[in-house]
Amino acid sequence: MPNDNWTFFQAFLRSPQVVASVIPSSSFVERRVVRAADAMRASVVVELGGGTGGITRSLLRATGSHSRLLVIERTAEFIEHLRMIDDSRLSVVHGCASSIGVELERRGYPAADSVISGIPFSTMPASLGTEIIAAVHDALAPGGRFVAYQFTDRVVDYARPVMGTPAVEYEFCNVPPLRLFTWRKGGASRRNGA
Ligand SMILES: C[S@@+](CC[C@H](N)C(=O)[O-])C[C@H]1O[C@@H](n2cnc3c(N)ncnc32)[C@H](O)[C@@H]1O
Repeated sequence: MPNDNWTFFQAFLRSPQVVASVIPSSSFVERRVVRAADAMRASVVVELGGGTGGITRSLLRATGSHSRLLVIERTAEFIEHLRMIDDSRLSVVHGCASSIGVELERRGYPAADSVISGIPFSTMPASLGTEIIAAVHDALAPGGRFVAYQFTDRVVDYARPVMGTPAVEYEFCNVPPLRLFTWRKGGASRRNGA
């Protein structure tokens, strides 16, 4: 939505390191993320960094009527946008991605089938990146997927020791083009030494 673009740009100007992009992800990214996350078959989905909600809405369209979507977003301006999405399956939390375990437990969700993340691992302190990856891994159900769409591959440095080597896809129809990294807990990409 045009209004989303303006909100996004203003938030970027205020916090470039946290927002990390001048406009929301394209519809091509939205579709690719939904497919990579296997969202159609997920009961509990967590989105880290929902922004103005483009991927959030795509996930809600793709998932079933009994599914649940938890979005954790750190930027206050985006919370208002996300809370305007009228869908009883959606919960929006203003906080840090590292709280994923606590937020799932608070709602009585045993684990996440898919975790999707656009948060910028390349600009956050290494200690936070490591903490978030450990929290995501703990929160995933066996066989669950972690999909990170990113402009750099820094997330792989954090995730490889915990979750192994990801599958990689490219999406060129986005400003700028980006990569999707997908891990499966206990799946083909295995924890080093496990
Ligand atoms: C590149 S934007 C992606 C936004 C949106 N999902 C999209 O695709 O258009 C990154 C988002 O992650 C959020 N973010 C950054 N660090 C975060 C953190 N530690 N926890 C939760 N959200 C975070 C930012 O506020 C921003 O909304």
